[in-house]
Amino acid sequence: DGVRRRDFINVAAVSFAGVGAVGVVLPLIDQMNPSADVLALASTEVDLSAIQPGQAIKTTFRSQPLFVRQLTEKEIAEADKVDPSTLRDPQTLAERTVDGKKQWLITMGVCTHLGCVPLGAGEGENRGEFGGYFCPCHGSSYDTAARIRKGPAPKNLEVPKYSFTSDTAILVG
Ligand code: FES
Repeated sequence: DGVRRRDFINVAAVSFAGVGAVGVVLPLIDQMNPSADVLALASTEVDLSAIQPGQAIKTTFRSQPLFVRQLTEKEIAEADKVDPSTLRDPQTLAERTVDGKKQWLITMGVCTHLGCVPLGAGEGENRGEFGGYFCPCHGSSYDTAARIRKGPAPKNLEVPKYSFTSDTAILVG
């Protein structure tokens, strides 16, 4: 009768949902375990030798914009004089750089609000009122350590994993 048919339909719907969930989970697991050769290909070596203090370059890392910038003494001092406890995403410049080389600021060029590419790495671009980077999409301003200081972005520009391979080169990834 009607009651039994409804029971059967409910059971069938649950079973179908279960099969669907398995189908979705497997591809996610594959993406989370890229093979070693894929990871190696995804590292990026960046030559720093042509980047003068006050200059930056835009390159790419794993298909996303990467900013590589040499800070001036003044920009380092401006970043260091900020009390990190007053920041939305508290971090010091030293924590955002490696090997004590605070002049080399390596960050993703991806605004942590909705993912636009901030200005400030290209020659003559607007660096915003805190002298770092400025996102024109909704007005997020980052300071000279690429920390969020004003506007809607919740986090500092992400610092990828990287290391120095010589005095004038880094390996990102
Ligand atoms: Fe940068 Fe919105 S995406 S402020």
